[in-house]
Amino acid sequence: MPASLMLVGAGKMGGAMLEGWLEAGLDPAATVVLDPAPSETMAQLCADRGVALNPPDPAPAAVLVLAIKPQGLDAAAPGLDRRIGPDTLLVSVLAGKTVADLRGRLPAARAVVRAMPNLPASIGHGATGAFANGAVSEGQRASADALLAASGMVAWLDDEAMIDAVTAVSGSGPAYVFLLVETLAQAGIEAGLPPAVATRLARATVAGAGALLDADSTEAGALRQAVTSPGGTTAAALQVLMAEDGMAPLMRRAVAAAQRRAGELSG
Ligand SMILES: NC(=O)c1ccc[n+]([C@@H]2O[C@H](COP(=O)([O-])OP(=O)(O)OC[C@H]3O[C@@H](n4cnc5c(N)ncnc54)[C@H](OP(=O)(O)O)[C@@H]3O)[C@@H](O)[C@H]2O)c1
Repeated sequence: MPASLMLVGAGKMGGAMLEGWLEAGLDPAATVVLDPAPSETMAQLCADRGVALNPPDPAPAAVLVLAIKPQGLDAAAPGLDRRIGPDTLLVSVLAGKTVADLRGRLPAARAVVRAMPNLPASIGHGATGAFANGAVSEGQRASADALLAASGMVAWLDDEAMIDAVTAVSGSGPAYVFLLVETLAQAGIEAGLPPAVATRLARATVAGAGALLDADSTEAGALRQAVTSPGGTTAAALQVLMAEDGMAPLMRRAVAAAQRRAGELSG
């Protein structure tokens, strides 16, 4: 954990990350939260844990984590630039804001990590892709890794352009899985199950399979093969899902569309 930290924007993502960091051993006395209108829960958390909330004129910290909405960057930047010292690492989770965008708005920022977390980060099961620019030292990268790993797994990227692909795979990915639950439930209803039963079964199946993946490092393909007896019911379904026009080309098209859109939204 870094020696000191300033969190700018304590909304859904920022607030969840802060809780994870405090759990992981971040020193509350060396933590500052800036948010003009914090939720009651966040104000209470800061009060309970001894985190300074909106102190007047806070000094730059070792790490500044930026977790405001991307569209708020232009308005926030002039007030933030003086919160960045020569040795401050800027960690941004702003979707679509490149390192160049960030440095353009915050000229004091030299070392920058751009990260793309996803929704399950809010419960410590996130998947985050991260890119560090050339000014990030080994120590700063280790700090960023510790901060991001407090909300789940972290994949470091060699090329910032890969962030759009990360957005398309893990950033937007939870929605694809939620859709899987919806479509599995619908198919169950059409197969003759009462809607409430189909919905509960589909949800628990996806959650259970996810928990299994979490608990067991066996590759997904091997887990799939392990539950597929030759000539059995699972094999019959997989023959459809794995057909030439099945799930693989569909997922490829979906991910390509999200990646394209991430590129369009950047800037
Ligand atoms: N949620 C996700 O799953 C997810 C996933 C990946 C990336 N992200 C990124 O995370 C960032 C935050 O998303 P979110 O869902 O957490 O949004 P959010 O809940 O709206 O949180 C943003 C917070 O920042 C505050 N804020 C606005 N301007 C500020 C300023 N100048 N200084 C300090 N605080 C300020 C907001 O206050 P007000 O409400 O008063 O404006 C709000 O509390 C976004 O950039 C998003 O791209 C989120």
